[in-house]
Amino acid sequence: MKRLLLLLSALALWSSESFITEGEYGQMLYENPRGIGCVHCHGKHGEGALIARYKEEGRAVELRAPDIRKVPLRKLKSSLLRRHRVMPTYFLTDKEIRAIFHFLHEEES
Ligand code: HEC
Repeated sequence: MKRLLLLLSALALWSSESFITEGEYGQMLYENPRGIGCVHCHGKHGEGALIARYKEEGRAVELRAPDIRKVPLRKLKSSLLRRHRVMPTYFLTDKEIRAIFHFLHEEES
């Protein structure tokens, strides 16, 4: 019995150490979403960033990724499932999108 308790507490310790929050999971996905990381275009915290500056017909043009920290979950989902002009298409599950959402909103506070 004592041995069993020892084993159980060792397991509990192990699982508490390997536990990550949904926000941490979301940050991992934000940085490495099986494709180019959101972080490269939307910035470290989702605040948006400049992707490129170029000239079009003599005019200076700036290509920016928008701030996505206040985007509601529904819009985040629809946006990730849609085709975009610049942003790549991702194949993320509902759970993964929700984790990214948590990360973006934890960062906000
Ligand atoms: C190559 C750069 C790039 C990467 C990588 C990228 N995005 Fe984007 N994203 C953009 C740009 C640019 C837009 C603006 C729409 C467009 O032109 O594609 C955008 C739009 C969005 C929008 C819509 C925002 C709004 O207010 O309409 C959301 C949400 C979003 N991105 C989330 C993400 C997430 C989450 C990831 C990672 C899984 C990601 N993006 C990866 C460039 C990028």
